[in-house]
Amino acid sequence: MRKIAVLNQKGGVGKTTTVVNTAAALATAGLKVIVLDLDPQAHLTIHLGAEPETIGSGSYKVLIKEGRLEEELLFVRPNLWLLPANINLVGAESELVSVVGRETILREAFQTVEDKFDYCLIDCPPSLGLLTLNALAAAEEALIPLQPHFLALQGFGKLLQTVDLVNKRINPNLKVKGVLLCMFDSRASLPGEVRADIEKFLDNARGTNYAWSQAQILPVYIRRNIKLAEAPSYGKTIFEYEPNCHGAEDYKKVAEFLHTQAKLVPETGDVENIAQPPLEIRPISQPDSPTPPAELTETTAAHPLESDQHKENQI
Ligand SMILES: Nc1ncnc2c1ncn2[C@@H]1O[C@H](COP(=O)(O)OP(=O)(O)OP(=O)(O)O)[C@@H](O)[C@H]1O
Ligand SMILES: [Mg+2]
Repeated sequence: MRKIAVLNQKGGVGKTTTVVNTAAALATAGLKVIVLDLDPQAHLTIHLGAEPETIGSGSYKVLIKEGRLEEELLFVRPNLWLLPANINLVGAESELVSVVGRETILREAFQTVEDKFDYCLIDCPPSLGLLTLNALAAAEEALIPLQPHFLALQGFGKLLQTVDLVNKRINPNLKVKGVLLCMFDSRASLPGEVRADIEKFLDNARGTNYAWSQAQILPVYIRRNIKLAEAPSYGKTIFEYEPNCHGAEDYKKVAEFLHTQAKLVPETGDVENIAQPPLEIRPISQPDSPTPPAELTETTAAHPLESDQHKENQI
């Protein structure tokens, strides 16, 4: 299983939107995907149409070791499972304060599900506290969504240093995969400048042993698109809400990019030789009946291709 933590301590940069829609694209292509809501705001849970108050806080239970990961996963779409959150998760940080090894609880919880899924995407809260640390200790790749606006880079160095610290002290497998530019407006001049600054920053680390030495700005970016902002209030992914908009197009490309790119290998600094086959991303449909995680070893066929008219929805 490939585990990707999606993080940025800045709020509202596109973390949850990226997790939901990238995961949905991967799941639609037939890959078995779990998404973890590690944010007490429970936006990921809500975005996938689940009700945080009635559904309970699976991530809280897993972190305080009252629940096993595979038992707390909810089947939310074909090939897609959610570890939900609710406001209880706020308590985890203080409840775990005296627990030895509290940063690696999630990593341990993964052990029993490791072989059953292809991908795990973790939606982190907008902070660098214990919840984000658990995500970083468990993942091998960190993906940083970033909104290229004024002050976008403020805190960026600290974020990378935090990943580096976790890499050196807790999780040598962890690397920064890259930066995903979200809510990108190519007509404005500022995004280009921010992009150049990030590139320069990342280039300076090439050949070093920093956890971000192989990081790149993803060659695909997410355009500002009103449909992406509307979809969560209907509890839908972008592929269910408006499959032909720019947002759907962009997140398909992100999923394709991540899947076709080889996983970073920390020891050598090289990438694995065998890249994944290209993804064929198809529109997602709602599940008829939930399949329990126990049946995950079976391959589920992707869904039939739906109509393909293209409609521009850029704002
Ligand atoms: N490309 C986009 N175009 C327009 N709106 C977007 C886009 N991406 C995300 N949004 C909207 O911007 C807001 C913030 O996005 P999102 O919730 O994904 O950010 P976040 O980093 O997870 O926030 P938080 O730090 O609060 O968890 C949401 O209302 C979302 O619907
Ligand atoms: Mg969020």
